[in-house]
Amino acid sequence: MKRRIQLLVIPLAVLMGCSRNPDGPANSNSSPLPALTDEARSAALQRGKAIAMETFSLLSSNLQSAIQQGGVSNALPFCSLAASPLTAGMAGKHGVTLRRITHKARNPAGKADAIELGILQQFRDALVATPTNPPPPIVTNLTAGTATFFAPIVLNNELCLKCHGEPGKDIQPENVAVIQRLYPQDEATGFKLGELRGAWRIDFPRATLSSGP
Ligand code: HEC
Repeated sequence: MKRRIQLLVIPLAVLMGCSRNPDGPANSNSSPLPALTDEARSAALQRGKAIAMETFSLLSSNLQSAIQQGGVSNALPFCSLAASPLTAGMAGKHGVTLRRITHKARNPAGKADAIELGILQQFRDALVATPTNPPPPIVTNLTAGTATFFAPIVLNNELCLKCHGEPGKDIQPENVAVIQRLYPQDEATGFKLGELRGAWRIDFPRATLSSGP
C-alpha cells in the first residue's frame, strides 16, 4: 500500500521537476526515495550508453541483413518476430530491464507511461532547441533499489523512413499493408528525419552499480 502511494506521488514530481533536475523527487521531503549516489549515477550512465549502443547495433545489423535478403517487406515480419527476443536477450546478458519506449508505438509493449511521456517530451524539446545535437541521456530514480537510464532514439537515417516515414510516400503501399496486418494499432508512421522516435529505458538494480570490494 505504501508503495502504491509512492508510485502515485512520484510521477507528478518527476514531470514537474525533471527539466531542471532529473533527481527531483528524491530531493523533496515528501519522497522517501533515497537519492542516487554520484557513483551509481555515473555507473548507470556509462553502462547504459554501452548497453543501448550494443543493442542498437544488434538490432540494426539484423534489420540490414533481413532487408538485404528480401527487401523491406521481408524485414517487417522479421523485425516483428526478432526485435523483442533480441532485446530480451541483451537484458538477460547484462542483468537489467531493457525497453524501447515511445510516444507513437508500433509494438504496443513500447507505449510510454505518464513518467516516460514526460521524459520523451523533455528530449523532444531539447531536440527542437538544438536539432543537430541530440540531448544527452538521463539517469533518475523512479523506484527504490533501481537506477533508471533513458537515452533518446533519434530517427537520423533514411532507412528508418521506409518503415516509419509517410505512408504511400516514404513507405511503399505494399509495405503499408504489411504494417497494418502485423500491427493493426500502429502509430509509428509519419516521422521525419531528425525527429525523436523514442528512447531506450534501462533499469539497473542499484546494488550492481556500486564498486565491489
Ligand atoms: C523494415 C522496417 C523497419 C525499419 C527499416 C525500421 N524499423 Fe523500427 N520498427 C519496425 C517494426 C516492425 C517495429 C516493431 C518491432 C516489435 O514488434 O517489437 C519497430 C519498432 C521500432 C521501435 C520501438 C518502438 C515501437 O514503436 O515499437 C523503435 C524505437 C524503432 N523501431 C526505431 C527505428 C529506427 C531509429 C530505425 C532506423 C535506424 C528503424 N526503426 C527502422 C520496423 C522497422
